[in-house]
Amino acid sequence: PTRPRVFSAMQPTADSLHLGNYLGALRQWVALQDDYEAIYSVVDLHALTVSPDPADLRRRSRQTAAQYLAAGVDPARSLLFLQSHVPEHAQLAWVLSCLTGFGEASRMTQFKDKSSRQGAEGTTVGLFTYPVLMAADILLYDTDLVPVGEDQRQHIELARDLAQRINARHGDVVRVPEASIVKATAKIYDLAEPTAKMSKSGHVNGLLEVMDDPKVLSKRIRSAVTDADTVIRFDREAKPGVSNLLTIHSALSGTSVDDLVAEFEGKMYGHLKVAVAEVVVGEFAPIRERVGELMADPAELDEILADGAAKARTIARETLARVYDAVGL
Ligand code: ADP
Ligand code: NA
Repeated sequence: PTRPRVFSAMQPTADSLHLGNYLGALRQWVALQDDYEAIYSVVDLHALTVSPDPADLRRRSRQTAAQYLAAGVDPARSLLFLQSHVPEHAQLAWVLSCLTGFGEASRMTQFKDKSSRQGAEGTTVGLFTYPVLMAADILLYDTDLVPVGEDQRQHIELARDLAQRINARHGDVVRVPEASIVKATAKIYDLAEPTAKMSKSGHVNGLLEVMDDPKVLSKRIRSAVTDADTVIRFDREAKPGVSNLLTIHSALSGTSVDDLVAEFEGKMYGHLKVAVAEVVVGEFAPIRERVGELMADPAELDEILADGAAKARTIARETLARVYDAVGL
């Protein structure tokens, strides 16, 4: 390829993406389309790890794709597809799982967190091997860059280790990817518990979802946890709630945190919250509207996904053939 390649994905585990997904990942994806050959997937096989209702999974897969498009992923320039439409993901994952140490996989902190919440009986083998499937997603496309949030750093590191391991054993077989993590927005915090990352498994009131009603967004921002102090300044340690609000505003408005602090000098937290609500609603409302249109005409969406899967498959097939050949299959 003449341009370097970017690959990333999200799980269709909810009807809406949240502000963490949006600022940590999706917005970067949109920007990277200009300079990279971009491939973006809705990783529905990954979503099976949480045992979803089949109808929910089917709807959420489409609606997640619709949110990528509505946020600016351009199917004329970028490939967009559902992971399960390209069977090579699961095939490469098996090969990689045989190259991954059990101890190595056991050290993944996201697995440790999620499995400790679910208990041994509620934890599937799929959740355990999730990072291996993610490595397959990335390596299948000879990916150079993987734009993600901070929570994915360790998983990208595993993908790199696996790529280097295959190459060391079998010659130059796959490309070694790099994570792209934008520092300012790498971790957006829960509004109700601003020391924890915003997540769909966190506090309901701490979440800002792309598909939320503007009234709900405003209400959640109004009740965001701050501190007993009254000064608006950026200090992650002493003022995590206020710092998170400043981060969100700055990322969406393009105004630097320093300029915001100057602008809100002498004002109250309530003023900052009103301003944050305005920028969040301003960003999400048009996306939500466009998702509604795309979901109302599934033919257009299905055509984009079918086209993306066909093109992704031609790349994936070639990579898998190379790996199979290298390992003796
Ligand atoms: P979730 O973490 O909500 O379950 P995924 O695991 O599908 O969603 O993550 C999709 C993308 O969103 C990943 O790149 C992840 O790093 C990013 N992301 C998730 N939560 C946050 C957050 N709170 N702040 C920044 N990025 C995030
Ligand atoms: Na995540």
